[in-house]
This record gives sequence, C-alpha cells and structure tokens, in this order.
Amino acid sequence: MKHLTFLAIALFMLACNSSKKATIQEAPTILPKPAFLEVLPGSFSLPKQVTIQVSSSAAASIAEFLSEYFRDCKILSETSTDDATIFLELSANDSSEAYELEIRDQGITIRSSGISGLFYGVQSLIQVTSNNPKTLPFLRIKDEPRFAYRGMHLDVGRHMFPVKFIKRYIDLMARFKYNTFHWHLTEDQGWRIEINQYPLLQEKAAFRDATVIGHASSRDRGNETFDGERYGGYYTQEEIKEVVAYAANRQITVVPEIELPGHSLAALTAYPHLGCSGGPYKTAQTWGVFPDIYCAGKESTFEFLENVFDEVLPLFPGKYVHIGGDEAPKDRWEKCPHCQKRIQEEGLEDEHELQSYFVQRMEKYLNTKGKTMIGWDEILEGGLAENAIVMSWRGEEGGIEAAKQNHKVIMTPVGWCYFDYYQAGPEGEPLAFPNQMTTVEKVYSYEPIPKELSKEQAKYVLGAQCNVWSEYILDGKRAEYMVYPRAIALSEVLWSPQVDHRGYPEFVKRLNNLQPYLDQLNLNYAGHLFESSAN
Ligand code: ACM
Ligand code: ZN
Repeated sequence: MKHLTFLAIALFMLACNSSKKATIQEAPTILPKPAFLEVLPGSFSLPKQVTIQVSSSAAASIAEFLSEYFRDCKILSETSTDDATIFLELSANDSSEAYELEIRDQGITIRSSGISGLFYGVQSLIQVTSNNPKTLPFLRIKDEPRFAYRGMHLDVGRHMFPVKFIKRYIDLMARFKYNTFHWHLTEDQGWRIEINQYPLLQEKAAFRDATVIGHASSRDRGNETFDGERYGGYYTQEEIKEVVAYAANRQITVVPEIELPGHSLAALTAYPHLGCSGGPYKTAQTWGVFPDIYCAGKESTFEFLENVFDEVLPLFPGKYVHIGGDEAPKDRWEKCPHCQKRIQEEGLEDEHELQSYFVQRMEKYLNTKGKTMIGWDEILEGGLAENAIVMSWRGEEGGIEAAKQNHKVIMTPVGWCYFDYYQAGPEGEPLAFPNQMTTVEKVYSYEPIPKELSKEQAKYVLGAQCNVWSEYILDGKRAEYMVYPRAIALSEVLWSPQVDHRGYPEFVKRLNNLQPYLDQLNLNYAGHLFESSAN
C-alpha cells in the first residue's frame, strides 16, 4: 500500500512536470525570428534546480554562460548519468552558426556543429524562458543566419564610453545574434587606444580642450559656442584585451578601426610632423570634416602607422582590420611638396590616386600580418586595393561597384543603417544628427542585397552593419536609446530568411511582446516608438 502511494505521488509529479494536454500554446517571441519554429502540444516545467549537460568539454564555456541565467543551476559532468534539464550537444567543433532547439517532455536540447550555433541556441532559449520563466511550450526550432556578417559599430572618438558600457553594448548585441563589433577608435576629436611607442597619443591626442555645443558641422565654422571643458581619455591595451575576450565569449569578433589618411587631426596634434604643413594642430572641438590629414609623401607617416598597427594587431585576433579611408580632403596634398613628389615618382594621375597609393601600401602591410583590410567606400576612388573589403556607407553604389569588381562588401548605407539619425520627431527627441531621419520601419525595410547585382555578384555581400556615430551621443544611456529598437529591426534583416511571412506589422507585434524581456535587461530603448508603430 505504502509503495502504491509512492508510485501515485511519483506519477502525479511526473504529470505535473510535463503536461501533455493537447493544447498548442502561442509561439514564444524570439527576435530575430528563427528560420523555422514549430510549437507542439504540451509544455515543460523548468525544475527549481536546472541542470545542464554538455556532450563534450568543448561546449563547457557555453554551459557556463547559460548557467548564469538561472538562479539555481548545476553543470553536470559529461559522464554523469543524472537526468539533465538542458542538453548541449556539439556534434563537431566547426564555425557553424546554425542550431536546433527542442523542448520536449524529456527536457531541452540544443544541437549544433559549432560553438557559435550552440550559443545562438542558448540565446533563443533565454528569450523563450524570459517570456514564460516556468512553463515552456514544447517546440522545435531549426535556425541559421541569412548573412555571415552581422555588425554593429560604435564611435568612441567624439564621445567615449566606459569599458563597462562597451561590454554591455556587446552583451546586448549577442542577444540579437550580431557577431561583429566595429570599434571606431581614432578620430579628429580624440585618439582612444593606448600605443606604448607613442606616449603623446595618450597625453595629447586623447584629449580636446573644449566641445562644441549643439548642432555644428564644417558649414558652421566660426559661429559655434563651446563648453570650455577638457574632454578625453583612452582605452589601455589591457582594457582592450578584456573587451576582446568578453566579446569572444559571446561569439563576437571585434574589428578595430584606425582611421587613415583622414580623420587624423588628434594624431597630428600629438605628432605634427605627420601632417603636410608640420602644424601646429589642435585636437578638433567641433564636428565635420577637417582638411589636415596624414601626409602621403613623407616616409615617416608610414613608419608611424606601421608601428601603430604593430601594437594594435596583436590585441585583435580577428581577421579584419578597418583603416577608414573616408572623408579625406585633398587640399593639403595638392600644395604639399612631399605629396607632389610622391605623385610624380609613383607616376600617379592625381591626389585620388595618391589616396589609393596610401591605402594600398597599408593594405600590403596588413596582408603581410595575415589581416584583411576593410575600408569605407571612398577606397574605391583612384583604384581599389587588391584584397580590400568595401564598407558601403554613402549609399548602396559603393557596394554595388565593389561587388561588380568581385570584392567583398559590407552594406552600411546612411539611409537605413545610421543610428545617429533621428528615429522620430525631431520634436520631443534628444539632439541627434541634424535633418536626417531613419525610422524603425525604414530600418526593417532594408534589403542588403541591391537589386542591381546578379546572383553571382550578390555572393560578395557579406552582410550589413549599423553605424553609431557619437557626436550627439554623450553617454551609454543615450546610445541605447538611439540603437534600440532599431538594432533589433536590423538583426532580423540580417538573420531571418527573406520570406513573405516576415512583414513589418507582424514584427511590431512581436517587438511589443518582447518588451518584458527588454525591461528585464533594463534597456533604455525608445519605448514610445512601440505604441506609435503598432497603430
Ligand atoms: C562615415 O560616415 N564618414 C563613414
Ligand atoms: Zn604631404
């Protein structure tokens, strides 16, 4: 009798653990939307103590990452015969980002042939559990990204953000399955990466004596007002290593950008001999484009940049390095005897070809170090460097042109991908880049493959990226406001299949469902956009 009672209790508990009532629950919200998601009848109750088992020690880091999301969680050894709640099955150890996630009565299984895939399965599971922390619907997900490059950029030159925020930025990227952080580290207004061989970069180039107030650009020169406050700072190499490791743990590669030949006024302020005139220069206090750039005629410029890269490259294990290349006025080069001598000696047509000489020479150097160079689309002018990847920002044209020349392309066209632009208003919105607007809907409508490309040429489009320039973004809270929810819209453009059932009104509905998750993250998203876009 006693045994029967025990049996009855055990059966009752089992029944509670996995209800097989033939009700199909609503599909949980996962953004970006998985390629395939099927909700099945029944649900699984998460036990008080969650146990995770990995199929091999290679997946242990993913188990540890996931364990942080449960209050009471134990990681079982590979050989344990205890019942596990979550199984992480790594079938190989390749670079796959595809995964399968199953929730059934026997538990939760995430399968992939790659660590990244397991990680994305875990991110989907975290969103499912945050929707409904105790009872999870039975389901099956088979998912993989549409594009290999899913990037977010952050400019730390105009305004700088503490390491703690950079890590948070990366953590949020990972939740929406981005895989590349483009860290824009040098600017006219500040040099932000420690270079031991050049201490004046830390002492001088990392600081400016004042910052312009309100909207200002090259067109407003002479009419600005300034705050009179010294502003600046830089990331030490130890901090950079810490960020890169943090990102790697979230399957994110960090691409450093060291701008050349333009946007280099801060570096010239520290080392004036690198400019055509020899200076003196002053770290920029206002925004826009500045005529003083690295001299392309002096050998000392290339020596400096190679030495800088010798310290930068070991910090960033990824294969890509961004060299900028945008917005480099040729005024100084036209008048500089060194630059003109270079044009003559190298048999160059003009200053545009001189820029190509500059960029191609740097590319060769980076290639000898095993790196692939990325540059803004101006690197097309005067002839493209041999292996360069083009980041198309002034529109889609640069990307189309590069793909037609069989060069890889990352799309970041201003009209869709610049998150320093207003997303609403401008009345009632915080100060942003003037006279430009990119709504969430516009971001969601973006198609990274330009229709001008053939199927073969389209293969050169690696993906896309949002750019977050920080002239008007003074701190992390503001950065989050500008980036979210637009980055969620772009994540779906980059990850989810391009199919009919993925439309904007349906996206907005799912975005609304995601609000509790965003609130849980304490995210400073532009919440008022949700209501207006739902109408
Ligand atoms: C850029 O926005 N100047 C790349
Ligand atoms: Zn020069």
